[in-house]
Amino acid sequence: MDQGFASLMIVGGQWGDEGKGKVVDLLSHAFPAVVRFNGGHNAGHTVRFANRRFALHLVPSGIIHETTTCYLGAGMVIDPKALVAELDQLVSEDVDPSGRLFVSPRATIILPSHRALDHAREGALGAGKIGTTGRGIGPAYGDCVLRHALRAFLLAEPTRLAESATAAIELHNRELVDLLGADPVDVTAAVGELLTAAGRVAPLLREVGPALERHAKRGDPILFEGAQGALLDVLYGTYPFVTSSGCLPPAAAASCGVATKMLGPVLGIMKAYTTRVGGGPFPSELTNAEGDRLRERGAEYGTTTGRPRRCGWFDAVAARYAIQVAGIDAVGVMKLDVLDGFESLRVVVGYRLPDGSTLDTMPADTELLERVTPLTEELPGWRNPTSGVIDQDQLPAAAEDYLRFLEERLEVPVVIVSTGPYREEILVRGTSPLAGPLQRIIAAG
Ligand code: IMP
Repeated sequence: MDQGFASLMIVGGQWGDEGKGKVVDLLSHAFPAVVRFNGGHNAGHTVRFANRRFALHLVPSGIIHETTTCYLGAGMVIDPKALVAELDQLVSEDVDPSGRLFVSPRATIILPSHRALDHAREGALGAGKIGTTGRGIGPAYGDCVLRHALRAFLLAEPTRLAESATAAIELHNRELVDLLGADPVDVTAAVGELLTAAGRVAPLLREVGPALERHAKRGDPILFEGAQGALLDVLYGTYPFVTSSGCLPPAAAASCGVATKMLGPVLGIMKAYTTRVGGGPFPSELTNAEGDRLRERGAEYGTTTGRPRRCGWFDAVAARYAIQVAGIDAVGVMKLDVLDGFESLRVVVGYRLPDGSTLDTMPADTELLERVTPLTEELPGWRNPTSGVIDQDQLPAAAEDYLRFLEERLEVPVVIVSTGPYREEILVRGTSPLAGPLQRIIAAG
């Protein structure tokens, strides 16, 4: 199908969990190649399809379409045991990933001792902890930039893998025991665990850049799927309350070893309100009954950790910042139906500092962001539900006004609106350049 673009980039425009998985799932039938480029199994994508529910962490949700080949880029951190568990889960759900899933040999391996370090380092931070997913993501990325990580190609070389893993885990054990006062990791068991998983992952190793170039030469559109979100990006997020990878579009080119011009227009996914898991500033957070209502209506509990998510109003300042740093061309607003039944809604449009001055963007100083008071605008809620609406004309007037208000604040079109958890509960909106192609893909899905 000629959808009007050679590739498409999908990134999160908030603190992750925006619903990217649903959008990728809806679109990926039109993309012979779907690529994940950052993070690891800290991500969690829930896809509901034909009464089945898939919770994916490492594997792109595109895998559910049998015509799609999925790639995990060099900039990812891969826990081989977690990947094998996910492959087994897919097979048990009658999804056969064989020959359709490839892992860059340059990706970083997450070792069992990275998981232990993640927990122990968090414990040492006490009240100032990041609230990580505990998957070993940060320690593995740390080892990568310190230049002593194990890279995925070793999974095909069991002797070297065992030697390097033993040396790395022994080093990690010194930090665990001597500095952090934690238990050491059992080296024999950990290496055994790794070797078992390695045998399953080794056949998946393939250089991602050349594979994507072959797709491009054939005219195959490529879908790039960012994990987490712009506000969790290691450089531009609310540092240090961020993940350890680049979540913005250029990270995809670096991770896959392809030209930035291959990346395509950027669709930023945002919820109609805001959520965050873990610590860190969250200016629009609601710690009252309205926040609880968003959490319950939106089932805001982590796919990966089951933790209750912090909930708040849509923050147009944070979203506008994300649009700028991620170069987002158009926005998909998810879970609009969760706002059904609210008498009135608020949107954060500015931040007031303790000295009375105001900010209209996110400052580099995260402590400053902790101290801002949000300035909000009130908008009317809507009586008729948006739940399940699949036609823009059927949206209640106040819901359409809410979306227009967001567009004015964000200065980019809202092109997709999700109105429920199921695949069909989506509408394409307006006449912006992405609307036509997205409408065609979704209609053909
Ligand atoms: P880490 O990525 O496990 O190191 O966690 C660092 C921060 O990113 C924590 O606040 C996590 O809750 C958050 N985080 C990591 N992955 C996701 C995700 O997929 N969705 C939402 N938050 C995430």
